[in-house]
Amino acid sequence: MSKGSASVKLGIVGCGWVTETLHLPALRGVRTANVVALADGDPVRLKRVGELFRVPQRHADFRALLDDPTIEAVGVWLPADRQVEVAQAVLAAGKHLFIDKPLVFDLKVWDRLIEQAAQANRQVMVVGLPRRWHRLMYRARGVIQQEQLGKLQLIRTVLTGRNPERRTFHEEGDRRAVKGVLYQFGVHHFDVLHMLLQRDVEEVFASSSADRSTVNVAARMSDGVTVSSAFSEGESRNDEVEIYGQAGCLKISCYRFDGFEYYPPSAHPGDMKFRARQAVQSLKELPHGLLRMRRGGDFIDSYRVGWQHCADAIRDNARPDCTLVEGRRALQVVMAAKESMELGRPVKIAPASCDRS
Ligand SMILES: NC(=O)c1ccc[n+]([C@@H]2O[C@H](COP(=O)([O-])OP(=O)(O)OC[C@H]3O[C@@H](n4cnc5c(N)ncnc54)[C@H](O)[C@@H]3O)[C@@H](O)[C@H]2O)c1
Repeated sequence: MSKGSASVKLGIVGCGWVTETLHLPALRGVRTANVVALADGDPVRLKRVGELFRVPQRHADFRALLDDPTIEAVGVWLPADRQVEVAQAVLAAGKHLFIDKPLVFDLKVWDRLIEQAAQANRQVMVVGLPRRWHRLMYRARGVIQQEQLGKLQLIRTVLTGRNPERRTFHEEGDRRAVKGVLYQFGVHHFDVLHMLLQRDVEEVFASSSADRSTVNVAARMSDGVTVSSAFSEGESRNDEVEIYGQAGCLKISCYRFDGFEYYPPSAHPGDMKFRARQAVQSLKELPHGLLRMRRGGDFIDSYRVGWQHCADAIRDNARPDCTLVEGRRALQVVMAAKESMELGRPVKIAPASCDRS
C-alpha cells in the first residue's frame, strides 16, 4: 500500500472468540484499516461474525482469501496447531501478516517462520502481544526511559483471570501445553518486561501449584534487576506491574483507568496527603476514563493501538515494534520457565538467541 492511500485492506482467518470480542471491535476504531474478508471453517460462526461486523466476503477455506490480490494484510487467529501453517501460507502469498502470540512450544518451528519472513519482500509482520500497547505501559516506559525511578531494583508482576484457552481443555495435559497459564499469561508479561526495560531475561526459576493453575516465576534480568511474576487461572482478575527503583516506585494496574501511581521514595502508600492527591488525580481522569469505557476500555484500546501500529508500519514500510522476533523472545522465557518447573532448578537463557532480527 502506498503512503497516503485510503486504508489497508485486511482479511482475517479465524472468527472465534478473540476475533469477535477483541480484534473486530478494536478494528472499528482504526480508520486506516478496512476488514474486507473473513475465513473460518465453521459456517455458522463465519455467517454470524460476518453479519455482525458487516464484512462482505466470507470464505470457508482461507486459501480463497489469500488468492484475492486486493487483500494486503491478513490477521491469523486460529487454534495453536494451525497457526504457523497458515502464517506460512500468508507469507508465501506475499501478504503482510498480523499473527497472535507464538502458539508453539518449539522454538525451531517459530524460527522457521522467522527465516521465511527474512526472505519476504517488504512484508510487515506483527505479533499480537497487546499488553505492550496498553496506554499505561507506554506511560511507564517513558518514566523508565527518563530514569525517573533511578536505578531499578525489583519488578513484581501479577496476571490472573480466566484463561481463554480453558474452554478448549480436553485433558489435564493441556495445562502443560500452550493452553496452560504459564504460556497463555506469561508470554504477555515477559514481553512487557522487555518492552519496559529493553533488557533480556537472563535466568528463571519457576514453581507451580500441583494442578499447574498457578505459576510463580522468579527471574533475573541481564542488568541484575530481579523480577517476581505470578500467573493464576481463575475468576479473580488482575493485571499489574510494579517497578521499584532507588528514586521511587511505579504501580501500573491495567484494568483501572487511573491505574498509574508514582510513589517518591519518601512517600508512604498510606500517607493521607498522598492518598488525597491521588483521589483528586482520579477525579480529574474520570471523564476520559468514562469515555474510554464506552469504547470498550483500555483493554480493547490496546488492540486498537496494535492494529493502528500495523497499518502505519505497512503504510510507512517501517519495522513494527512487535515482530516475530519479539514474540520469540517472550516464548523463550516461557519455555525456560517450563523447563525450570520440570527440573526443579533455575534455568539460564542464552542471550545470543534473543538477538536475532
Ligand atoms: N493475544 C491474546 O491476547 C489472545 C487472547 C485470547 C486468545 N488468543 C489466542 O488466539 C487464538 C484463537 O483463540 P479463540 O479464543 O478465538 O479460539 P476459538 O476456538 O474461539 O476460535 C478459533 C476459530 O478458528 C477456526 N478455525 C480453525 N481452523 C481453521 C482453519 N484451518 N481455517 C479457518 N478457520 C479455522 C474455528 O472454526 C474457530 O472459529 C488461540 O490460539 C488463543 O491462544 C490470544
